[in-house]
Amino acid sequence: MLVSALPNDVTAAAAETGTADPVRGTAHGKVILFGEHAVVYGVPALAVGIDRGAWAQVDVRAATGADEVSVLHVRGWDVTVRDDAGEDGPPLARAFRDVLAATRKDQRATGRVPVGTVHVEAEADLPPGGGLGCSAALGVAVARAVDPSASAESIAARVDAWERVFHGNPSGIDAAVASAGGCVLFTRGKGDEPSTIERVRLSETLHLCIGHSGQASSTKSMVESVARIRERRPEITQKTFDAIHTLVKNARLAIVDHDLRAIGQLLDLNQMLLSGLFLSTPEIKQMCATAHTAGALGAKLTGAGGGGCVVALVFDAARGANVLAAWKAEGFDGFAATVKAEVQDVREILQKLHERVIAAGSP
Ligand code: PMV
Repeated sequence: MLVSALPNDVTAAAAETGTADPVRGTAHGKVILFGEHAVVYGVPALAVGIDRGAWAQVDVRAATGADEVSVLHVRGWDVTVRDDAGEDGPPLARAFRDVLAATRKDQRATGRVPVGTVHVEAEADLPPGGGLGCSAALGVAVARAVDPSASAESIAARVDAWERVFHGNPSGIDAAVASAGGCVLFTRGKGDEPSTIERVRLSETLHLCIGHSGQASSTKSMVESVARIRERRPEITQKTFDAIHTLVKNARLAIVDHDLRAIGQLLDLNQMLLSGLFLSTPEIKQMCATAHTAGALGAKLTGAGGGGCVVALVFDAARGANVLAAWKAEGFDGFAATVKAEVQDVREILQKLHERVIAAGSP
């Protein structure tokens, strides 16, 4: 969990006493390295939580009674929404309403005091419509701040209600990564089956460059466009998804082995397959080519495509700076992101070394 451990029902308790500090929830932005779109149809996807994301803070002292409306203010966008929105209300208001309703429903079902009126202050440090899971990160941060003792699974389920407002038929990968961070293999559950999320351990830090194409993209319309292609040409689309599935399996091995060249090649192949689904744009193509010229090992669109962001893999921070400078010279904004290696058990490191020694000694 990203949020520091807090006692149960802290919001309700604080509303009664008016003494607790504001409760803060945080969440990661996500970068899909492999498998976007195919993930909607059950292919696993590999994604990482980056060191940029969103936070939300609940002013528990402002929770004064049932007759008052709850309010969410998103700093930076300077947008304020209320939870009494109707179906024609702005999407953010409906998402806020739905995540609060899902939270209260869960709390009642488990015999807890449902959260009262809340005043939430939030901020997202991610470009909206950029394919970095901005809406899910904001949703996770809000859901966490409102109910800090909820499990990661409950938070993800509640944020599904929030994400449906923006994305129609979300796979759930954004919310899962926003919540978990690190590198994960996400598989959407079929029918009523729950989705699964498996941690993929990084042995060394990954250095990424994220660049914005300058065009906002709508996940909902890009997912719908792939659905239309799939309806018209089911066999070819299935072949593309199968090829992406193979890439994902190989990429997982390459990530675990920290084989950067292989990861780079697989990123390029995934970009080619996504272009075949008409998800690339001339700007995305240009950014991938520029990243390569500046020393990137591989590059592709990330997220919905049709605009949004490009992710490039680099050896180290210095090469990353070259890619960012090359993008900037062409008018594309970007930033460096790292995904930190996870601490390994000493026995695991020794075992790996042992395997390498045996492999090096074998004929
Ligand atoms: O662009 P984003 O961050 O919303 O990512 C969309 C990822 C898709 O696979 C295209 C859709 C989904 O729900 O998984």
